[in-house]
This record gives sequence, structure tokens and C-alpha cells, in this order.
Amino acid sequence: MSLAGRTAVVTGASSGIGEATAKVLADAGCSVVLMARRKKRMDSIAGEIDGETLVFPADVTDQDAVAEMADHVLSAFDSVDLLVNNAGVASGGPVVETELNELRPSIRVNLEGVMNVTHALLPGILDSNLGDVITVSSLSARYPQEGGSSYTASKFGVNGFMRSLRKEMSEEDVRVTIVMPGPVITELNDWERWDGRAMEPRDVAETIAFAASRPPRVELREISVDSTDKF
Ligand SMILES: NC(=O)c1ccc[n+]([C@@H]2O[C@H](COP(=O)([O-])OP(=O)(O)OC[C@H]3O[C@@H](n4cnc5c(N)ncnc54)[C@H](OP(=O)(O)O)[C@@H]3O)[C@@H](O)[C@H]2O)c1
Repeated sequence: MSLAGRTAVVTGASSGIGEATAKVLADAGCSVVLMARRKKRMDSIAGEIDGETLVFPADVTDQDAVAEMADHVLSAFDSVDLLVNNAGVASGGPVVETELNELRPSIRVNLEGVMNVTHALLPGILDSNLGDVITVSSLSARYPQEGGSSYTASKFGVNGFMRSLRKEMSEEDVRVTIVMPGPVITELNDWERWDGRAMEPRDVAETIAFAASRPPRVELREISVDSTDKF
């Protein structure tokens, strides 16, 4: 199915997987709304895109700002066809050594942020002929890592939220896809200390575009995408 003419909202579009996804979807002919906090970064990324873009700086944890974004997007476009929930942080550390206030941001951004954006845009997605809600989770939701308890919890949580939403959408023309990447070289982690093979942001972006471009009768429900470094 062609993605040309679809309207996509990508959160966390100021770097990494979100930046690559905005570019891949724009190359496929989507109008793309870029959302994150760093406006300058998004303006510069939008400048590299040859297609319709709208930059909306907002924090996904700010319910009012997210609602404002949804109003803005729905007045600029008739509907939203594709939401890519991608904004995320990887805060935390071993539970016994880490203050609670350092454990909370992963939950606030990666779980509550996804809830805020999905809740605000779902009415617009339901107005689409075929809506897609694609969420970037993590293989941490399958293989928890030491020192990543709150990040892991946020990704288990987001998988649960999306699995439940998928059931709620069973009578609607809305597909719900969870993408679980392994290691990707982005600003999320300190890659200096990583000695394995990792993916590029574009690898995940192309997976997202592939899921969104399946024929309307097909729903890719959960996708693991990992580097070829077997462990
Ligand atoms: N890199 C990996 O190895 C890996 C593996 C599995 C899953 N993931 C997931 O992939 C997603 C994207 O991460 P990435 O690796 O591409 O890292 P990244 O380059 O650090 O990108 C994270 C994005 O999220 C945005 N963001 C963070 N907090 C935000 C907030 N409160 N409100 C709005 N936007 C916010 C950041 O933009 P601003 O700072 O401008 O707001 C940035 O655009 C995350 O959900 C992450 O958990 C990454």
C-alpha cells in the first residue's frame, strides 16, 4: 500500500530513530508532523525534508501541550493516518543505587507520554480510512537488562497498553503495531562502551514504514528487529 498522501505524526523526531522515521516517511510521500522538545533540531531536520512538514515542539509528558498539538494537527490536516510513538528516554540504574526520582522519567516519558499522545490523537486516527498506531517499544520488554528496571517496566507497560488498545480497535480500521528494537546507535545510550554490533536508526525507520505500507487486510502486530550480533 502506498504511503503517499498520508499524514504521519512522529514523536521524538528531533534525533535518532524518530528523525530517521520522519525522513523515511516523507520520502514515501507522507506529510509529517515532527514532535519533540528541541525545536531548532526539528526545524533543521524539516529543512532537509523535501515534502510537507509541520514542526510542533512539545513535551509528551505535558498533557495540555499534547492536547494543543492534537488540536493544531487536526485543524491543519483532515485526519491523522499514522502515529509513531517513538519519544523515549533511558533513565535509571540499579534499584538499590538509584534515587526514585531518577527511576521515574522512563515511566513518565515512555509510558505516560505514549498514553498522552495516543489518547489525544486517537479521535483523529479513527477519522482516517485506515489508521496506524505504531509504537517503538524495546527488546527490553522481552529480555530485561540489569540496571534498567524502570526502562524495562515502561516498555512492558507500553506493550500492555498497545495490546489492549488493539482489542479495542478490533471493529475499527485502525491497526496497532509494536516495534521492539535491539541496540541502535543513537543519543539514547553511551555507545563508546558498546563492543557489539548495533543497528542504524534507519533500520528501525524502514521497519516502521514497512509495517505502515502493508495492505489494509494485514496487521503486523509485534515486530522484533535486532542486530545480527547473537547473544
Ligand atoms: N537506541 C536504542 O538502542 C533503542 C533500542 C530499543 C528501543 N529504543 C527506543 O527508541 C525510541 C527512540 O530513541 P532513540 O534511540 O532514537 O534515542 P534518541 O536519539 O535519544 O531519541 C529520543 C527522542 O525522544 C525525544 N524525547 C525525549 N523525551 C521527550 C519528551 N519528554 N517529550 C518529547 N520528546 C521527548 C527526544 O527529543 P527532545 O530531547 O528534543 O525532546 C528525541 O527526539 C525510544 O522510545 C527508545 O526507548 C531505542
